[in-house]
Amino acid sequence: MGRHLVTSALPYINGVKHLGNLVGSMLPADVYARYLRLAGHEVLYICATDEHGTPAELAALEAGLDVAEYCRRQHQLQAEVYRRFDLSFDYFGRSSSPQNHELTQHFARRLAEQGFIEEREVKQVYSVADQRFLPDRYIVGTCPYCGYTAARGDQCENCTRLLDPTDLIQPRSAISGSTELEVRQSRHLYLLQSRLAGELRAWIDSKRDWPVLVTSIARKWLDEGLGDRGITRDLQWGVPVDRPGFEEKVYYVWFDAPIEYIGATKEWADADPAHREWRAWWYDAHDVRYTQFMAKDNIPFHTISFPSTILGSREPWKLVDYVKGFNWLNYYGGKFSTSRGVGVFMTDALELLPADYWRWYLIANAPESDDVSFTWELFAATVNKDLADTLGNFVNRTLTFTARRFGEQVPAGGTPGPLEQDLAAALAEAIGAYAEHLERMEFRKAANRLREVWALGNGYLERASPWTTIREDPQQAACTLRTAINLIRVFAVVSAPIVPATSRRLLGVVGQPDAATWLSADITAELAALGPGHPFTVPGVLFGKVSDEHIAAWTERFGGSEEALPSA
Ligand code: 2FM
Ligand code: ZN
Repeated sequence: MGRHLVTSALPYINGVKHLGNLVGSMLPADVYARYLRLAGHEVLYICATDEHGTPAELAALEAGLDVAEYCRRQHQLQAEVYRRFDLSFDYFGRSSSPQNHELTQHFARRLAEQGFIEEREVKQVYSVADQRFLPDRYIVGTCPYCGYTAARGDQCENCTRLLDPTDLIQPRSAISGSTELEVRQSRHLYLLQSRLAGELRAWIDSKRDWPVLVTSIARKWLDEGLGDRGITRDLQWGVPVDRPGFEEKVYYVWFDAPIEYIGATKEWADADPAHREWRAWWYDAHDVRYTQFMAKDNIPFHTISFPSTILGSREPWKLVDYVKGFNWLNYYGGKFSTSRGVGVFMTDALELLPADYWRWYLIANAPESDDVSFTWELFAATVNKDLADTLGNFVNRTLTFTARRFGEQVPAGGTPGPLEQDLAAALAEAIGAYAEHLERMEFRKAANRLREVWALGNGYLERASPWTTIREDPQQAACTLRTAINLIRVFAVVSAPIVPATSRRLLGVVGQPDAATWLSADITAELAALGPGHPFTVPGVLFGKVSDEHIAAWTERFGGSEEALPSA
């Protein structure tokens, strides 16, 4: 059956993530991991908070907290919201863990031993008032091209030109506003990626089955000529550099963050003696298939930078087998933005509606081949039609009608005929295609097929029309309703990867435990799994509808269509 290692890009520690972050990494990874588990594979799904770097330090400063304490709290908050979104991490770690410190230092040491690290002297901007070196984007000033007065040292947000901090007119610290800036020398470690370019290209070339989005970004970086990369910073918060003369420095956040995929696996093992064999997931792990999920801005770091770390270590650590990349989810054509508070954040979403509404909408409209816009109108249309009218309505009408006519148990009588045969054949086809899409991580196509599976329920009821047959042929009606109740169970099992809470609820209604295995190939047998007399309960309305009033209120609350559109 094989072992599957699944990771989703590690969310930055500062701030609750928005729906764009969710659909670009954690949610599809969760759907995939859930499907693989149901299909009988051994799965390890790892995620963690990405805790180092200047933004975390500054956010802590703003919150008036020591950075370690700030991260501890934010980690708890994020872990809680992911739990409520039903993300089934086997472990949710922290990149600031001792395990990651140790592994990061190990990789740096190995890279040095193999001749891939060089010390270089670089000039950097130092802020006397802040008593720290400033990363480029923490130096602000007037753009020499357009005159925008809050341009950042790496790029002008207004005219989008790439800048060097020395281009800025009247540069000042973004932290304190101080203009007392000096250029100072500092020694840093460089990872000599240029020496690994050939190996990286051969490795990328061998990935014929990867999405073009992913390979084209990786090749673009290689084609532009792979530069050596500074992997240390003059900061206090991070993994300390264990080398004489580097006591005041830490590794760059993008060096230690991907190593945390391994670090979190070790955290998982250290938390439970049953997981002692953690290294077998990563080291000499030829029987493991490793899949990573991320949005497109992360692709270079996972196809070039992290593989450089692994290859350069000259140790048999696992390289990724498949990278699933995503485009952007926009908010009405504009960008979701954490810093500007545009869009819908995960905590906001849960205040409005349970997780499955969002999970379904996001997977059904995942930005796989293109950027996609979130709009409240599309959100309402999707959940109303698919969840309320198709799935919810089928379940409610089946169980309500059965309970009224036969009591709250699977009715006895009648025998399946051509309608049931047709139903089984159509189900087998659609479920087979659905499973194949999940296996290939084609999420929109998978959702389309699942929607089709659900629609077979209503189609069957219309054709079999038990509310008509109940008059002349109650046996026939009993058989129809028995089949329909079994369909609810079938729907619950196959829906579990995308809408897990709904799956649990439906299985509870028909007195079954949570889905643990996928359906057998014999759909006819699956449609008879719950025999006559099996008790059920009638649930309340499964999915409420999103009304025009909701849309109006939420558009108002979250910034409407107009505001979010980029200025012309
Ligand atoms: O873009 C981001 O949200 C990063 N925090 C992703 C890190 S992924 C991994 F390498 F840690
Ligand atoms: Zn400009």
